[in-house]
Amino acid sequence: MSAPFAVFVTAIGGPEVLKARPIEMPTPAADEVVIKQTAVAVNFVDIYLRAGQPHSHNPTPPFIPGVSGIGRVIAIGSNVRELSVGDKATYTNAGVGSYCTHVVLPAERVIPVPEALNDVRVAAGLVRTLTSQYLLKKMRPLAPGTRILIHAAAGGVGQILVQWAKRLGLIVIATAGSDTKINTALELGADFAINYRTHDFVTEVHRITEGKGVSVVFDSVGKDTFDGSVKCLESRGLVVNYGTASGQVEGFKLQDLHSKSLWVCRPTLKTYVADRAEMLAMSKEAFEMLGDASIRLDIETVLPLSQASEAHRLLEGRSTQGAIVLIPDELFIKK
Ligand SMILES: NC(=O)c1ccc[n+]([C@@H]2O[C@H](COP(=O)([O-])OP(=O)(O)OC[C@H]3O[C@@H](n4cnc5c(N)ncnc54)[C@H](OP(=O)(O)O)[C@@H]3O)[C@@H](O)[C@H]2O)c1
Repeated sequence: MSAPFAVFVTAIGGPEVLKARPIEMPTPAADEVVIKQTAVAVNFVDIYLRAGQPHSHNPTPPFIPGVSGIGRVIAIGSNVRELSVGDKATYTNAGVGSYCTHVVLPAERVIPVPEALNDVRVAAGLVRTLTSQYLLKKMRPLAPGTRILIHAAAGGVGQILVQWAKRLGLIVIATAGSDTKINTALELGADFAINYRTHDFVTEVHRITEGKGVSVVFDSVGKDTFDGSVKCLESRGLVVNYGTASGQVEGFKLQDLHSKSLWVCRPTLKTYVADRAEMLAMSKEAFEMLGDASIRLDIETVLPLSQASEAHRLLEGRSTQGAIVLIPDELFIKK
C-alpha cells in the first residue's frame, strides 16, 4: 500500500475497530509541515481512546489514534522558518493522530531529531522517556537513597523509569505481572521485584522496607493497584497515578490521606510539553537517553501500520515487554 493511508478508530470498541483507509496527501497551511513517517509509536493511551475510557479528550469516531511518530519533513508552509524539507522530525501531543503514513501538524509542535538516532527507537521511546523524565525530575525532589515503588516495571514506560531511577541513585522496588517480567525488572537494575499477580505487593513492600514503606509510588495500573499503592507509603509519601491500564481509580476518599499527610497526583505528559521551550529542553535530554546504547528499551515487535489492531491486542493482552512500533507498510515490506 504505497498511497497515503491512515488507520482509523471506526467505532468505540475492541482492536477490531481499527481499520486502514486511504487518505488524501496532506498539504501544509502556512504554519504547518507535512511529515512522511518512517515509524509510528503505539502507546497505551491509544487503547484508552479506542476503548472509550474517559480521558482528557475523547475524540468521536472516526478518528486517527496515536500520539507520536517520526519521519522526514516533505513539505513546509510559507511561514515556517526553523524547519526544512528533509529534516528528521518527531512530535508528541501535537493534536493530530499518528497512525498514518503522512501527518500534517503545526510547525511549533515539531521536534527536530538528531540524525544519529534510530527511528524505531525514537518512536518506541520518545513518549516513554519524556514521561519518565517528568515523573522523576519534575514532580518532587528525589534524593539518592529514596525508596520508590514502580508498577508494571517491565512495560514500555516502566523499563525506562527503572533505569533512570537507578541512575539517580534511588532504591527501586518493582512490580510486574509474570516471573519473566520480574527477571527483566531485576536485569534493568531494580533492587527488588514482586510478581503482583502471585504475591500481595503491599505485604511484600512492607517486608522489604521493614515496615517503613516507600516515599513515592509510580502507579500506571490504576484500578487494581491504587488502594494498595497508598498503603505502601511512608508518612508524607506520594502516589503518582499516571496511568490506568487496569481501569480508572474510582471512589477514592481524600480523608484516607489524612493520618499520614499523604499526597496523590494524576499527571499527564501533555502539560509538561505544552510550552515549546520546555518541550525542546526535555526532548534534548530524552534524546541523550535514547542515544545511550546502555539504556535498554525492548522492542517487543515491529508490525506493519495496517496491522495496528494486532499491536493493540498484544499490548492490552498484557503479554508485551517494552514497546511495539508500527512501520508504514511500504517501508516494512522493503525490509
Ligand atoms: N500520564 C502520562 O503522562 C503518561 C504518559 C505515557 C504513558 N502513561 C501510562 O504509562 C503506562 C505504561 O504505558 P506503556 O504504553 O509503556 O504500556 P506498557 O507498560 O508497556 O503496558 C501496560 C502494562 O500494564 C500492566 N497492566 C496491569 N494491569 C493491566 C491490565 N488489566 N490490562 C493491561 N495491562 C495491565 C501490564 O504489565 P504487567 O503484566 O507487568 O502487569 C502491561 O504490560 C500506561 O498506563 C500509560 O497510560 C502515562
